[in-house]
Amino acid sequence: MAIKVKAIIGSTSTTSYNAKVVDFMQKRYADKLDITPVSINDVENFSVDIEENPPENAQKFKDEVKDSDAVLFAVAEYNSSITGTLKNAIDWLSRGGDFTLKNKPGFIVGSSISMHGTVRAQLHLREILSNPALSPILLPNNEVYIGSVQDKINEDGEITDQGTIEFLDTVVNNFVEFYNKVNTLETVNA
Ligand SMILES: Cc1cc2nc3c(=O)[nH]c(=O)nc-3n(C[C@H](O)[C@H](O)[C@H](O)COP(=O)(O)O)c2cc1C
Repeated sequence: MAIKVKAIIGSTSTTSYNAKVVDFMQKRYADKLDITPVSINDVENFSVDIEENPPENAQKFKDEVKDSDAVLFAVAEYNSSITGTLKNAIDWLSRGGDFTLKNKPGFIVGSSISMHGTVRAQLHLREILSNPALSPILLPNNEVYIGSVQDKINEDGEITDQGTIEFLDTVVNNFVEFYNKVNTLETVNA
């Protein structure tokens, strides 16, 4: 059975390349991963003033992430970091005492129009996610930096760059193997 993955797209752009990458992955890996994108666009600004009674949009986001076997972060890079919108959404996941991301398997991809392919944003994201209130179990040693993404996706939103496709194939296979190992360990330790 396919792994139920919620994809958190770190961009609010209606023409987001990262959303297109997720769309591509959703179709290409449907036999392995059941990927559903989760919107962060409407998630209200986090404040401790409202965290006890989260607004519907924030609660919906948290519930959607919770209802998954795994998470996929598709990262856009703004000014050498993740977008403010993604940071806000992650802040919601860290609060409420239910630790939505804790021990949830996950992996990260990212694309940008520069050559660096979100390497700085992903470094920040890994640091943020290492906080004890977040702490998903991230796939190690598989870093997906899709640089110059505008040259690798066609008008229909399909990735056309063969090297990128093959690399994604490898990373997804590695993630499935990793996910199964994590689940086996959890069963043994239960
Ligand atoms: C405010 C802003 C800041 C940006 N800063 C960076 C940056 O630091 N590094 C980078 O590679 N691209 C940067 N970009 C370009 C993004 O890579 C590009 O807009 C990309 O399409 C964003 O991902 P998305 O298409 O999924 O929204 C920036 C774009 C904006 C609008």
